[in-house]
Amino acid sequence: MKAIIPAAGHGTRFQPVTRVIPKEMLPIGSKPALELIVDEAKSAGADEIVIVISHGKELIREYFKDDPSIRFVYQEEQKGLGHAVMIGLEALENLDASPVLILLGDAVVAGCNASAAMAAVSAANGGAGVIGLERVPREKVSRYGIVRLEGDRIVDLVEKPSPETAPSDLAIAGRYLLDGRILEFLRTQEPGKGGEIQLTDAIRRMVTTSHLSPFTFHLYGYIYPGRRQDIGNPKGYFDALKAMGENE
Ligand code: UTP
Repeated sequence: MKAIIPAAGHGTRFQPVTRVIPKEMLPIGSKPALELIVDEAKSAGADEIVIVISHGKELIREYFKDDPSIRFVYQEEQKGLGHAVMIGLEALENLDASPVLILLGDAVVAGCNASAAMAAVSAANGGAGVIGLERVPREKVSRYGIVRLEGDRIVDLVEKPSPETAPSDLAIAGRYLLDGRILEFLRTQEPGKGGEIQLTDAIRRMVTTSHLSPFTFHLYGYIYPGRRQDIGNPKGYFDALKAMGENE
């Protein structure tokens, strides 16, 4: 399985330390967070991993330089998560309909291997796409991509909706298994919330226009056991240390 880890963001919510240490390299015990994410991807079956970085984040490259299963690509301009994933996908050869694993470089999961659990859901559904989900308090939905489910299937997605308009309280939780053909949707994706090219928007187009295309994109939502910890800000990082420590 192929995997992409976007880790090119500015990390402004975690300044000043992110001026010298990428947030993805902050330690969780004896390992950088990013190594826990790489380990998760590998034990879920990833044998080809592309990490998307930016200039100034060479520490990441240096740390993983002896790992033959990892390659690096640069996102020259931080145009958003969707753009970073597009660059990662372009670096992968022989993309087909089989799902590519995408793991956010600043999200660690305590208590389970979310990617492995999602890969099992995909396999049980003929190799369909899967998005890892978590339930969030209604008043916080505007921080996340929120999905609408019909049964187990994702039928709609909205990036950072207001609590009044959110289709549910189910948030995208940092892990995706997506059909490689998402690349075509990312290439034509206009900037959305925050002026960024949003992965959520491209997935939405893929799902909602699927009936117009020769392909059908089955996309399942799966609430994985375990908790996503967002280390993109100091509070989240402290919570992550606590949660990951309890699982040691
Ligand atoms: P975030 O949404 O947390 O963005 O990215 P950010 O820019 O890193 O953080 P702030 O808002 O400045 O504090 C989620 C993941 O996607 C990557 C980040 O590195 C992080 O691992 N990302 C985000 C990219 O690779 N490129 C981008 O343009 C944006």
